[in-house]
Formats: sequence, structure tokens, C-alpha cells
Amino acid sequence: MWIFLLVSHIPVMVHEVISILAPCNGNRILDCTFGGGGHTRAILNSAECYVLGTDCDPDAADRATSLKEQYRNRFDFMQCRFSGMRDALGVHEKFDAVLFDFGISSFQVDDADRGFSFMKDGALDMRMSKSGPSAFDVVNSFTEEDIAEMIRSYGDEPRAMANRIASSIINARRVGAIRTTGELREVVHKAVGNTVVRKRYSHLDPSTKTFQAIRIFVNDELREISKVLESIPYLLNDNARIVTIAFHSLEDRVVKNWAVSMKSNLSVIGKGTVNPSTNEVVRNPRARSAKLRGFVYRSNNHGGYTN
Ligand SMILES: C[S@@+](CC[C@H](N)C(=O)[O-])C[C@H]1O[C@@H](n2cnc3c(N)ncnc32)[C@H](O)[C@@H]1O
Repeated sequence: MWIFLLVSHIPVMVHEVISILAPCNGNRILDCTFGGGGHTRAILNSAECYVLGTDCDPDAADRATSLKEQYRNRFDFMQCRFSGMRDALGVHEKFDAVLFDFGISSFQVDDADRGFSFMKDGALDMRMSKSGPSAFDVVNSFTEEDIAEMIRSYGDEPRAMANRIASSIINARRVGAIRTTGELREVVHKAVGNTVVRKRYSHLDPSTKTFQAIRIFVNDELREISKVLESIPYLLNDNARIVTIAFHSLEDRVVKNWAVSMKSNLSVIGKGTVNPSTNEVVRNPRARSAKLRGFVYRSNNHGGYTN
């Protein structure tokens, strides 16, 4: 029980997701961010539909096993990155709805060995798919200029602060490699110190934005999102429903730009973004920055608003 509490993930805005995806008996639904299967389970319980869950994280495959046992031929799991979705699925029968719950799961953040969190000391890693260059490689081999640029553009740190943090990382590397999340946090704390910026954002740990920036870079998150959104015409049936949930403005900007570029094939559901209720945020503080958008995909007609 204790282990379960430590590693569970509470799905965000489940009621809103289900009401927009509107699963019907016989539908085929794609959950591109399976994670711990919280949304998948809610979809499977809401109608006699089929769900294909996909995720790039090999650990998600283990979690999918119990859903497979319970829902049998109504559920399958496939390990796949967003950018591989078109090749993997584009030739198969299309789907009636798709869910994207972007970002990382509590399973990933809360596991010190995955190296995502400055709250848990572990080896610097941050790879959702457990493959390719890790946070360790980036932090210990990139130039000062490249590190500063990454922190500025993906962490949204002001240029002067990003430069300070990058210089602190380079100085620390002169003594030895930065191996753990705890060491990186210390290095960033030294750089940010007691500056005005730190005081202005005193409710956040000073290393929050640096960790976010490195994670986005290591997993190529923004390009991945844009690739999977581009593959929608190959994956979805006419009139299919789409839900996106973004957790920071960079993710949401990719969704907005895509929606503008696709406007003649999309109808926006509702008036724009939906945020979690105050009650939900109290129950699940990780939901606080979630922004949900819903669309209907039209393969060949005109978009607009729908309620
Ligand atoms: C917020 S979690 C989803 C949680 C899930 N909705 C639930 O209820 O348990 C996001 C998931 O998306 C996966 N993911 C993020 N980027 C991905 C990518 N480029 N390709 C495939 N999966 C990705 C992560 O590994 C993570 O498991």
C-alpha cells in the first residue's frame, strides 16, 4: 500500500476529458500518453469502446499489463514516441478520438532513479524513453552558450539569469562532473543566490526552471508534440474528437499554432481553454497548471466553434 501511495498518478480533469472525447460503444480511441493508464481506464469504463494506449516510456508497458488482463480485447498498448506515431499507425484503421495529456507522470517525477526531480536526489537522467542522450550528457558536455540558450528558451529564465546559471555549471564542471539532481540543484542555487529574481519567485525552488528546460531539451518535447499533431490526418476519422492537456505555456503554444495552421479542418469545442476546478487543484496540486483544449477534426470541411 505504501509503495502504491508513493508511485501513483492522479489523472487530470477526467470528467472534462470524457465529456469532450464522448466515447461511444464501438469507438476506437487513441490515448497517446498512457502513463499509468488513469485516463485510459476512465475511457474504457465510460463506453464499450476500444482503446490503444501508447507511451514512449518502457515502464508504462508494465503498467498496461493489468489493464490488458481486465479489458482484454478492448485494450492494447504500444511503446512508441509521438514522432513515430504516423509510421506506426498511419496504415491501420483510424481512430474516433485521441487524447494527449502532455508532460511527465508522477511515476516518472517521483522515482529518484529517473532523475527528473530536484526534490529527490538521483542520477541526472530525465529520459522518458530511457534511450538517447541524458541530462548528464547535456549538463556535462554542452558549451556555456548552449546551456544558457537552453535555460533561457525552454525554462523561460531571463537572459542574465540563464547566463549566470550556465556559468555556474561550467565552473562546477572544472572541479568534476555534475552527476546527480542534488548536485545540479546546488549549482543552480549558488548561481541564483539572493538575487531579485529569486525573491520575486520565492515560492518556487530556484532550480525549477532549469530542470524544466533540461527535461524539455533532453526529450525534444516541443518538436515531438508538433510532429504528433501533424500526423493527425493520418490517424483520425472524420469528426474525430481531440483533447490536448498542456502544463506550461511552451506546450500550449505548440497546440495553439497547430490549431491555427489547421483551422479549416478543426472545430474548437467550447470557448478555448478549460482549467481544473479549485476542488481538483486542492485534491491534486499537480493539476494546477493544466490547460485543456478540445477540437473536432474535419477531414475536408470548415472549422469553427462548437458547443
Ligand atoms: C502526464 S503523463 C500521462 C498520464 C496519463 N494520462 C494517466 O492518466 O496516467 C504523460 C505521459 O506521456 C508520455 N510522453 C511524453 N512525451 C512523449 C513522447 N514524445 N512520445 C510518447 N510518449 C510521451 C510520458 O512518458 C508520460 O508517461
